[in-house]
Amino acid sequence: MTEHSQPVPHHIAIIMDGNGRWAKQKFQPRFMGHRAGLKTVEAIVKHCVKLDVKVLSLFAFSSENWRRPGKEVSLLMELFSVALKQQAKRLHKNNIQLRVIGDLTKFSASLQEQIQQSQLLTANNTGLILNIAANYGGRWDVVQSVQKIAQKVQSGELAVEDISEQMITDSLETADIAEPDLFIRTGGEQRVSNFLLWQMAYTEFFFTDTLWPNFNVDALDDAIASFSNRERRFGRTSEQLQEQTDA
Ligand code: IPE
Ligand code: IPE
Ligand code: MG
Repeated sequence: MTEHSQPVPHHIAIIMDGNGRWAKQKFQPRFMGHRAGLKTVEAIVKHCVKLDVKVLSLFAFSSENWRRPGKEVSLLMELFSVALKQQAKRLHKNNIQLRVIGDLTKFSASLQEQIQQSQLLTANNTGLILNIAANYGGRWDVVQSVQKIAQKVQSGELAVEDISEQMITDSLETADIAEPDLFIRTGGEQRVSNFLLWQMAYTEFFFTDTLWPNFNVDALDDAIASFSNRERRFGRTSEQLQEQTDA
């Protein structure tokens, strides 16, 4: 470990990308890639529990993913539903708290109900917080936060000049969760694709070409090792951080 090395990240956020290309390489339909990707999710969740990571945020479906062919979208919805059915009890048994963030009103009534039930079942668990982003967009999250605040202004409860960064943070979907320390994107693209925009202002980024179905615990360890060697300065100088460590 280096002088300012970081411990294991408290919060890891992942864009699980490359399912479609993985399937294409194998001359299989894209959906097979999503199914394989689900296996990776299981392995990574398990590893995060083992490493004592506190929060794992996974981008499962973006607000832009509705633009995909209808068939792929409906298969993804079905996969989400099946995964919840199969995994909710296991998550609960492992003391994992499941949360789903995003605009859930666009999902079918039965899927919404299922999400609700799974969240309720695991709500009092004290282990890993597994935060699934579904029909989530970072811009949407900021908008819905600002709307809540604007309502308070309208009702006279809050003055415009009292609106603060903290207030916006506290009205986001991730209100009671610390910001991500480490952001990982698999599949080779180096972009944020409207994930946790506000929350990732000071997150460390890690990009890998590995396609999500091929990502595994060793790859996660590599990402964490990279994170561990970074100096997070938050605007300060390296010397200032050294002084803090010495003090
Ligand atoms: C990510 O994999 C999963 C979702 C967006 C649901 P992709 O489906 O985007 O895979 P590629 O990028 O086409 O390979
Ligand atoms: C981002 O992946 C969303 C998810 C992984 C769920 P995409 O593959 O949809 O991202 P873009 O559109 O290529 O940026
Ligand atoms: Mg993609």
